[in-house]
Amino acid sequence: MQAHEKRENQLTDPISSNPKFNHAESRIAIAGHPVHAMLVSFPIALTTCAWGADIFYWATGDLFWARAALWASGMAFLMGLLAGLSGTVELLVVPGIRARAASWTHFIIAMTLLAVLGANWGYRLYGYEEMLLPYGLLLSSLSAAFAGFAGWHGGKLVFDYQVGTSSSGS
Ligand code: HEM
Repeated sequence: MQAHEKRENQLTDPISSNPKFNHAESRIAIAGHPVHAMLVSFPIALTTCAWGADIFYWATGDLFWARAALWASGMAFLMGLLAGLSGTVELLVVPGIRARAASWTHFIIAMTLLAVLGANWGYRLYGYEEMLLPYGLLLSSLSAAFAGFAGWHGGKLVFDYQVGTSSSGS
């Protein structure tokens, strides 16, 4: 065996060889069930509702849908903050979650989502009846796209990287 091949075989990945790498169980949990997973459904569903209400307002001109979009976008933002808080605490306190680059990618996608959700709601607070075209619809469409992206990536963390999963399952 060549000297350089020997040296390569001796190299270890400093991240996965960290003794705490496999400590990725959720700490912010109720009876072992991660709180973050319980909360994320709310911003995802409410963001989709706000987008749907915008489409109905565009199609019918009925002010009911403009008000529905205002409430749904506001609640999506506030519940998104709560979901983000539980996720952030998890990220900071669990060493195996902190060590995975994918967790930080999820954090960046989620923070972008929260910024767009805040803009979508804030914009409507200055006259929800007239804001639909073009920026209201653009912001709610962008929010829906980012909610899908963050949700899909969160699922990837759990299913592909075993983040937040219990090691006692059989
Ligand atoms: C802002 C900071 C956020 C951080 C640091 C964060 C972090 C995490 C972590 C560590 C997990 C793994 C499961 C767990 O430990 O609970 C996770 C899962 C997940 N996250 Fe986030 N998250 C954030 C925000 C969000 C938001 C706003 C959404 C909403 C779209 C979201 C959607 C998801 C989903 C769908 C899962 C998979 C849940 C499951 O199936 O168990 N995350 N996130």
